[in-house]
Amino acid sequence: MKNKPKKIAVLTSGGDAPGMNAALRAVVRTSVFYGAECYAIQQGYQGLIDNDFKLMNARSVNNIINKGGTIIKSARCLEFRTPEGRKLAYENLKKSEIDALVVIGGDGSFTGAMIFQEEYDFPIVGIPGTIDNDIFGTRYTLGYDTAINTVVEAIDKIRDTASSHNRLFFVEVMGRDAGHIALNSGIGAGAEEILIPEENLGLERLLESLKKSEKSGKSSSIVVIAEGDKTGKNVFEIASYVEKNLPYYEVRVSVLGHMQRGGTPSCFDRVLASRMGVCAVETLLEGKSKVMIGVIDDQMVLTPLEKAIKGKSEINSNLIKVSDILSI
Ligand code: F6P
Repeated sequence: MKNKPKKIAVLTSGGDAPGMNAALRAVVRTSVFYGAECYAIQQGYQGLIDNDFKLMNARSVNNIINKGGTIIKSARCLEFRTPEGRKLAYENLKKSEIDALVVIGGDGSFTGAMIFQEEYDFPIVGIPGTIDNDIFGTRYTLGYDTAINTVVEAIDKIRDTASSHNRLFFVEVMGRDAGHIALNSGIGAGAEEILIPEENLGLERLLESLKKSEKSGKSSSIVVIAEGDKTGKNVFEIASYVEKNLPYYEVRVSVLGHMQRGGTPSCFDRVLASRMGVCAVETLLEGKSKVMIGVIDDQMVLTPLEKAIKGKSEINSNLIKVSDILSI
């Protein structure tokens, strides 16, 4: 980028995540702080295509740091996947003389960003916002911490009723193809078994382990299943398979669903969002782009968007061992 950007736009895209508003606030205020104008694009890439831009000031983002969801709305925009849609988006950005863009979203949103900047050489910086925590180049994505706390709270409640009725509960959690939410919330909630896509040990092992639990005197149990689990069966099929093979268990299923994406962001997510928002704008002002902001060992780190999309965010395999030891 030759000149410092004077007009920066920001959008939230893909599945919403707690902390997106805090990141928006940080991007707007940091732009204003350094003397740049900041425009909020409504409804992700759709707003770029529809020319739905709103000039923000420091006061437009009052009282949103504590709010879940995203006040500028989010979408998974099909039109932006077409060359025609991206052309319209570029023309609208040019018309408004916007010279840089911050995209807050997950890997789908970053893929769109990468194609767009390759086509039009438009400066973009990404902030990873997704509850799934599945993005390479950052230890944490925005919304993940809040989501695992929401899941733990929900499973604590399920445990109350499970133990009152001596029941075996299968709880499905989100995470798309990644098991971060399942593994961490499962350990946090003391689950007896955790099924994640990264480790497919099969249903026989699950049966053996539940038999052992029952023999060891457990009258109720919680099995956390990641939605992307690779046993080839969904949570209801797994539950009925277990019920058929272990008839002494009374089985129930709970799919936590979208409640995992909502709610007030945790302090951790608010601070992370604030740091990432400041860093995103400073990165653009330093003339850098095509990168994603991440945090590793508590330091802000820049990763090329392409690497962030292609790389894999690994599960901490030590956690699997911790879960196995503690669920005896
Ligand atoms: O990526 C976030 C996420 O909540 C995933 O965990 C889940 O698989 C997906 O989005 C659900 O998407 P939608 O809200 O479009 O149904």
